[in-house]
Amino acid sequence: MELNVDLEREIPVLDWSRHLSERVEYMQSSAIRELLKLTQQQGLISFAGGLPAAEFFPLREIEEACRYIVRHEGAKALQYSPSEGHPPLREYLATSMHKYGVPAVPDNVLLTNGSQQALDLIGKLFIDPGDYVITESPTYLGAIQAWVAYQARFKTVGMDDDGMLVDEIEEAYKQVVAETGKSPKFIYALPNFHNPAGTTMPLERRQRLAEIADKLDLPVIEDDPYGMLRYEGEDITPICTFIPERTIYLGTFSKTLTPGLRLGWIVCPEVLVKRFVQAKQGCDLHTGTFVQYIAADICQRGLLKAHVRRLREAYRERRDTMLDALTEFWPDGSSWTRPQGGMFLWARVPEPINTEEFLKDAVAEGVAYVPGVHFYPNRDGGYHAMRLNFSYSPPHLIVEGIRRLGAALKRALEQQ
Ligand SMILES: Cc1ncc(COP(=O)(O)O)c(C=O)c1O
Repeated sequence: MELNVDLEREIPVLDWSRHLSERVEYMQSSAIRELLKLTQQQGLISFAGGLPAAEFFPLREIEEACRYIVRHEGAKALQYSPSEGHPPLREYLATSMHKYGVPAVPDNVLLTNGSQQALDLIGKLFIDPGDYVITESPTYLGAIQAWVAYQARFKTVGMDDDGMLVDEIEEAYKQVVAETGKSPKFIYALPNFHNPAGTTMPLERRQRLAEIADKLDLPVIEDDPYGMLRYEGEDITPICTFIPERTIYLGTFSKTLTPGLRLGWIVCPEVLVKRFVQAKQGCDLHTGTFVQYIAADICQRGLLKAHVRRLREAYRERRDTMLDALTEFWPDGSSWTRPQGGMFLWARVPEPINTEEFLKDAVAEGVAYVPGVHFYPNRDGGYHAMRLNFSYSPPHLIVEGIRRLGAALKRALEQQ
């Protein structure tokens, strides 16, 4: 049958807003993803994204894994698979989490499409419109984005160089109860190499947070994407170790293997895994089978550990390069955190400079960063701060980028 439709005709633009749900009003585009578009500009040195260094991606290992899997297990690896995740990978993760201090058996583990999906599923399971969640301020932008879509409100607690000020949690809790008559839904914490603050919570604070969560009967979301990327000192016991019955621990392969695989995991009580599975089935039925086979193959052959050792070396050098360059090139009155691991540090510039406004000067100089205010869920701070990523650019570009930023900051200060 021949249809008389002109495929080249101009297609009218409908007003879709009349058809969309009210929820859509609350959804925001990620400021960082928007910024990343800016950073496509030729020659720009970007400290903005949270990107791992692509030159270290284990391409050969992944190629070999793919070839092996397609040849020997292709029929299963390309088929639908359980919503909870590929059983050998759940087993591997349970064992490695256990060694790390997170009590887990395979039934406690659920594979997700990156930790970002875990954050969204948490929103889906826990947040009714108007509910409060307790977060640090600043906190991870992707969590804010995930939860505002469920119409969450944010009661924030401050931070110092040791991370979350956990003793502020009780007051935050009381304020929420006084205002709404309801408890906040959970505490969201980033104890290791915080994104964006670069801080690490010492053991005593983690224990204290666990006690407070227990006392207030609050669940804890422990988001730990960078835990394996430690450049100095010893691993610190996760919060989950103290209160596994009330912690939802989030891990990811994004920062260790590659982010493009989109593979993360949740460790939580088994009853909750079942709820997450129901929530996840409505999204995507299950995480990609093939990528789970790849990760399982690489982990089981011990290649991930070796790869992470290489990454630690390279990123430690980049962190040190950035810290040295900041000391050399930035104006007096600036300060920054000294991260023990991860990918970011948090830099504060002298007060007259607003980092959101200063960004256009920085981009004109060929450097990008993320202004601090974006990490404040209530946009009530971070005006004189910025997040700087040190994992993505090679050392010589880190020096050049920090030098350019320092020169632009000094110029801006002179003009005040
Ligand atoms: C704190 C934090 N949580 C979650 C994520 C999401 O990671 P992914 O979805 O790539 O696993 C990131 C990524 O930057 C992050 O920094």
